[in-house]
Amino acid sequence: MKKVLFVCLGNICRSPIAEALFKKKVAERGLSQSFHIDSAGTANYHIGKMADERSRRNAKENNLEIDHRARQVLADDLENFDHIIAMDRSNYNNILRLSTSSKHRSKVVLMRSFADGPFDPASEAADVPDPYYGGEEGFQEVYNILDECCDRFLDTLVK
Ligand code: 4NP
Repeated sequence: MKKVLFVCLGNICRSPIAEALFKKKVAERGLSQSFHIDSAGTANYHIGKMADERSRRNAKENNLEIDHRARQVLADDLENFDHIIAMDRSNYNNILRLSTSSKHRSKVVLMRSFADGPFDPASEAADVPDPYYGGEEGFQEVYNILDECCDRFLDTLVK
């Protein structure tokens, strides 16, 4: 069983899309029984809420259903999950702040490190952009990034 956790700030925009997309791709490859997939936020602002309406609407347009309720990431998650995928560098640093053991560090990676092409962890391009304060078009951009990165991340797990 591989345990995968996607993490953003609020757990209502980016990481619930990543969770739903990744679950769908895992199911399409017939691997659902081999995975536990979840998402969480580093902040506590939206605990218990459904994903942002714009995330759900955009997902639906792309044939994807999101049914996640927001939760906050816990120190135990670093122990319990095998792969913790941070949407941006701020999330990444905040997740590692919860860590009580150096062995957790290697579990935490940036989502965009799976994108095709060169990856610079110090660049703004290392972040899945936060669409919360932007327009609807930002949600399709996020969807496209997550779609590519989820595919390539899954490839690394099954090869
Ligand atoms: P997310 O987006 O981290 O992708 O879920 C955000 C959601 C809420 C807020 C910021 C980003 N907020 O400030 O409430």
